[in-house]
Amino acid sequence: MKMNKSQPQFLERAIYFREELSGDYFILWIWDEALGKKCQPGQFFQIRAHYSIADAEETRSLPKLFKPISIYDNAEGRIGFFIKKVGAGTNALYKLKAGDLLELIGPLGNGFPLVTGRKILLVSGGIGYPPLWYLQKKLIKHNLLYWVHGGSGQSDVFPCDEVWTEDGSFGKKGMVTEGISKLIAEKKIDLVYSCGPVPMLKECAIITTELNIEHYCSIEAYMACGIGVCYGCAIPVGQENDWNYLRVCKEGPVFNAGEVLWNKF
Ligand SMILES: Cc1cc2nc3c(=O)[nH]c(=O)nc-3n(C[C@H](O)[C@H](O)[C@H](O)COP(=O)(O)OP(=O)(O)OC[C@H]3O[C@@H](n4cnc5c(N)ncnc54)[C@H](O)[C@@H]3O)c2cc1C
Ligand code: FES
Repeated sequence: MKMNKSQPQFLERAIYFREELSGDYFILWIWDEALGKKCQPGQFFQIRAHYSIADAEETRSLPKLFKPISIYDNAEGRIGFFIKKVGAGTNALYKLKAGDLLELIGPLGNGFPLVTGRKILLVSGGIGYPPLWYLQKKLIKHNLLYWVHGGSGQSDVFPCDEVWTEDGSFGKKGMVTEGISKLIAEKKIDLVYSCGPVPMLKECAIITTELNIEHYCSIEAYMACGIGVCYGCAIPVGQENDWNYLRVCKEGPVFNAGEVLWNKF
């Protein structure tokens, strides 16, 4: 099993392509071969819209905080960020066009461990989809994969093997975690990777712990600095009577789900 680390950099890069997806989703692509070589699935960048892009009035009102966004794709220097607009930071990113500048810090975080010869279940929920896309591209040649994704409705659905929506507008109706125990048994799964909202990860972790299945989850904690300084993203990790706060942005965002103390969040 391989974990990779690299030194984060502060960068400005032009957007060379922007893709509009369904609902509130869009993809920003940058091109940097050297940077691409340093990135691993599960890592993320702190990104924000560059301040000198549009006219002076508009740029003065842009949010100052960087936002953590996972690496969605990385092939021959084409690095993609698959984003949902939810608030001021992601809305500012949404307004960027090809040629505008992005400010980036990264790659950040530990990334997913990469394996071979395993039967793997990928579980994503909502905006947990992007890091698993990059991960499955790395794993698919050397493992058997099955990917189940859940969202609120059909605008939250993206390519995978099985879809669940809360309103039943696409795929199976219900929460994505409802079918996991059955899938693990049917497909003889021996490893789970997950990314999505904390309640989904927690439910997944309860199931994998009960079934004694190895499980790595990427946690979407609210981040301030994103580079390990403020401890605003720390979560409890360890054993019930021997645990510590670890930073999602530095020691994570990927953790062994069996070591996260979900009830102490
Ligand atoms: C490691 C990591 C990787 C991420 N990867 C992606 C990605 O690939 N694509 C993507 O679209 N988003 C991703 N996110 C989530 C993204 O960072 C947030 O949606 C973004 O910071 C929201 O900023 P905003 O200024 O637009 O909205 P804000 O005004 O900051 O927030 C809008 C609403 O979203 C809630 N919110 C903000 N951040 C989070 C969070 N981390 N978890 C749960 N709720 C939150 C706020 O409480 C508020 O209700 C990731 C988060 C983390 C920690
Ligand atoms: S966000 Fe500041 S330490 Fe993680």
